[in-house]
Amino acid sequence: MDTPPLNIHEDPHYLKKGVDLFKHPVTFVKGCVAVDHLPETDLPEVAFAGRSNVGKSSILNALSNQKNLARTSNTPGRTQEINYFNVSNQIHLVDLPGYGFAEAPRKKVLNWQKFIRAYLRGRPHLRRVFILIDSRHGIKKTDIEIMKLLDEVAVPYQIILTKADKISEKAQKEMHATVEAHHEGLIAKHPIVHLTSSQKKKGLEAVKAEIASFC
Ligand code: GTP
Ligand code: MG
Repeated sequence: MDTPPLNIHEDPHYLKKGVDLFKHPVTFVKGCVAVDHLPETDLPEVAFAGRSNVGKSSILNALSNQKNLARTSNTPGRTQEINYFNVSNQIHLVDLPGYGFAEAPRKKVLNWQKFIRAYLRGRPHLRRVFILIDSRHGIKKTDIEIMKLLDEVAVPYQIILTKADKISEKAQKEMHATVEAHHEGLIAKHPIVHLTSSQKKKGLEAVKAEIASFC
């Protein structure tokens, strides 16, 4: 397979592929609470990770243009499921449990890491993990921990900034530049960072193009 170029979000071929990929309804496959529940499949998959409340469920709904595809009614941080969604029978989108919410006990974070490590080790078709970061807050310690974990298991990851609509354009630009320039201690971080708003449907075409590049 050819390696896709780095600037997929500017490439008309991948942008069109992204639009076409999401033309059909996205379907919920299953929620998994243990590694042996994960679906046996040859489809490639990309996962969405991030602190609780960062907007993971919202971006899945926005990408699929379906308001209630990913359940948003769960108490923040309580869901410890790995949720699978099927896009046009070509790729799975995987919603990982939120991590690093302020009041999480250390034990809970460790359990999450254990589950996630097992997930990452056991998924040969996992092509990329999107790390979602709130545009207002930037990269936090728990995000770095996850990125280091991904470095360890050699899974590439890319940062998506969320909720851009909540800050000024100037602040968006500054945060984007800061996060893109952050490489300290990180190995497999994708050089491009996407700036999005699920509410305003901003930056979603770029994310769709990235996803389509794995199909
Ligand atoms: P957990 O499932 O608890 O890990 O959270 P999550 O990462 O799935 O976050 P979720 O999508 O449920 O969004 C959390 C809150 O942020 C909700 O109130 C959303 O409406 C809000 N939110 C998500 N994306 C955006 C956005 O782009 N703009 C704005 N203004 N609010 C957003
Ligand atoms: Mg959620």
